[in-house]
Formats: sequence, structure tokens, C-alpha cells
Amino acid sequence: MKLPIKQSILDMRPYQQGKSDLDGIENPIKLSSNELSYGPSPLAIDAFIAASSELNRYPDGGQTELRRAISDVFGLPVDNLICGNGSEELLQLLIRAFSCEGDEVLLSENGFVMCQVYISTQGATAVVAPEKDYKVDVDALLARVTARTRIVIIANPNNPTGTYLSRTEVERLHAGLPDDVLLVLDGAYAEFVVREDYESGENIVAKSDNVVMTRAFSKIYGLSALRIGWAYCPTDIIDILRRVRSPFSANAAAMAAAAAAVRDLEFTAMVIEKNESWLQRLRVEFTAIGIEVIESVSNFYLLRFPGGAGKNSKDAANHLQANGIIPRPVSDDGDNKYLRITVGSDEENQAVVTALQDYMNND
Ligand SMILES: Cc1ncc(COP(=O)(O)O)c(C=O)c1O
Repeated sequence: MKLPIKQSILDMRPYQQGKSDLDGIENPIKLSSNELSYGPSPLAIDAFIAASSELNRYPDGGQTELRRAISDVFGLPVDNLICGNGSEELLQLLIRAFSCEGDEVLLSENGFVMCQVYISTQGATAVVAPEKDYKVDVDALLARVTARTRIVIIANPNNPTGTYLSRTEVERLHAGLPDDVLLVLDGAYAEFVVREDYESGENIVAKSDNVVMTRAFSKIYGLSALRIGWAYCPTDIIDILRRVRSPFSANAAAMAAAAAAVRDLEFTAMVIEKNESWLQRLRVEFTAIGIEVIESVSNFYLLRFPGGAGKNSKDAANHLQANGIIPRPVSDDGDNKYLRITVGSDEENQAVVTALQDYMNND
């Protein structure tokens, strides 16, 4: 190609979506993308259908109804909320607005993989801090802050480990950063966490002017297909995002469904309760057959296989697939030890347990 293009773009690998079908198997159990097996709240489906009567109209660029719903449910100031085409779009906007060529954006070893793509597209450099015991390591991050650092992004809970940083640890990270560095708390899985010492970031955003929290409707609200997410930001940052955003990227049907979903507290409570009880149960089941389960607070779990013949993640994934179940292999899993699996419905989780018992006991 003769067109000039940044080397950092040529060096990228395109995003690999979680597998969704299996040859010869009708309706496989898809547990590769941390989606909600129950589907969204019935109220969200009704709102989505109702929105179809106005498909000829542009969406409300002010995102009024959805921002009001989020504000009511989470008790956050409506003027500090912004919605986008998935939380992914908001992360992208933040990277575009606050970093330039030559800047550094600091990431933790795990987290949302698309951040690397946005950083490289920008011509900035992604600096990656290693994690410790499957968790974001605050000291490792702080040790990598330089005069060129513009943004620090962590996913809390983290993906694919499912682990979290406590409120105190996030505050320590924030306190250690210079005032001119933006801290982004990616809370795509925040609603699933039921730990007392966890906070998704509301208080820290309220108290500072360099912290943003992003949240998803794709996970707990089961609206992955609609691409809708939101962020809570200090006033100056909202002002910047409003300038650089595409005005209609949050579409009308997605916003209507999301507003209904976030207001359906009963449905959300049911999902949280089921998820937590399955996390506990799956841990017991897998530990009993010799698979380590990294302690997750999210809607997926990372399994660590002992490795070796008949006990490794690659063969286990093949065995699951032969049984109609799609897990998510972990990239760079050179030793074939790790596999990420979404918490599914009761039947789906039971099918995973049965298939892995079969694999560990017989293969
Ligand atoms: C950690 C993390 N952050 C952000 C996202 C983006 O979510 P969405 O764009 O669907 O809101 C994902 C999606 O899988 C994720 O795993």
C-alpha cells in the first residue's frame, strides 16, 4: 500500500471476538463473551419494541431520559453523565481527547484489550504494568508513571482475572498520581461485585477532577447487542467529551432499553444474587476436581489447569466444545493453563461442571 500510515497501526492485531458457533452443533452454549444468558429485563425488551415506532427520527443527542434514569438509580448528578456506543466508545474518546503522539498511557497487564488499539491509533505509547497474584498492582503502576504519562486505565473488576481492587487501593493509586494525569476506572463489571470494600469509583470521581468511571449496559443489563454504555465524569471532562463525541452514537432504541433496564432493580438484584451463588458453587466444584479457580467477583471466572496431558486448558476447551460449550481461551497462554468462562444460566453452568468433571476424571 502506498498510502502513508502510522507504523503503530500496521503493528496491531485486529480484535478477536469470542467464538459464537461450533461446527455441527446447533445452539451451542456460548460462554465466551461475558454476556448475560438470561437476556435483558422484559421491561427493556418492551422499551426497545416501543422505540421502533420512531425509527425515522434521530436519537435525542442530549441523552436526557437515559441520563436521568442513571442519575435516579445511582444518585449521581445528571450533568456529569454521558452515554456512548458501548463503554468502549467512551474509553476511546477519553484516549483520543487526552493523549497525543509521544504521550504514554499506562495500563495494567490485563484489562480491556481495545484500549491498546486506541492508544496505538493515537500514536501514543501503551506502557503496561505487570499484575501480582492475578490483581492490578498499584505499586507497579505508580513505578511506571513518568513525565510523559497522560492517562492511567484500570478495569475494576479486571478481565480476564475477575479480581478487584479495594476502595483503599484505588484511592492509593489516585493519591500517587500527579494532578495532570487522568485516572480511568473501567467498571464494565462493577454491578456484579458484592464486596463491602469495593467501590466502582463514584466517590472518587465526585471528590476529584482527574478521575472518570466508565460503565457498561452489555454485562449485567444483558444489552450487548445494542452497544450502550455510560461514564461519570468531572464537569471539565464532560465538557471535553461533549466536544469530541459523535452526537448520535448512543442510538434511540439502545437508550430506551437501557433506561428501562437500569430502572428494573428487581431484575438486576436477581441477576446479582444468581451470579454470586454460582461463583461460590463453581469454585467448590472445580477445586474438588483439581482445577484452581481465581477468585472472581465478576460474571466470569478464570480457571487454572494443572497443565500436562489430560489436564490442560487447550484440551479442556476442545472437550467443552465437543460438548457444545464455548469457553474463551486466554491470549498468550503458552503453557495451556488458563481458560475464561462466563457464568451462564443454571443449566449452562451445570453443563460446564459435568463436562469438566468428565475431562479431568477421564481424559
Ligand atoms: C473490562 C472491559 N471493559 C470494557 C468493555 C467494553 O464493554 P462495552 O463496550 O460493551 O460497554 C469490556 C467488554 O467486554 C470489558 O471486558
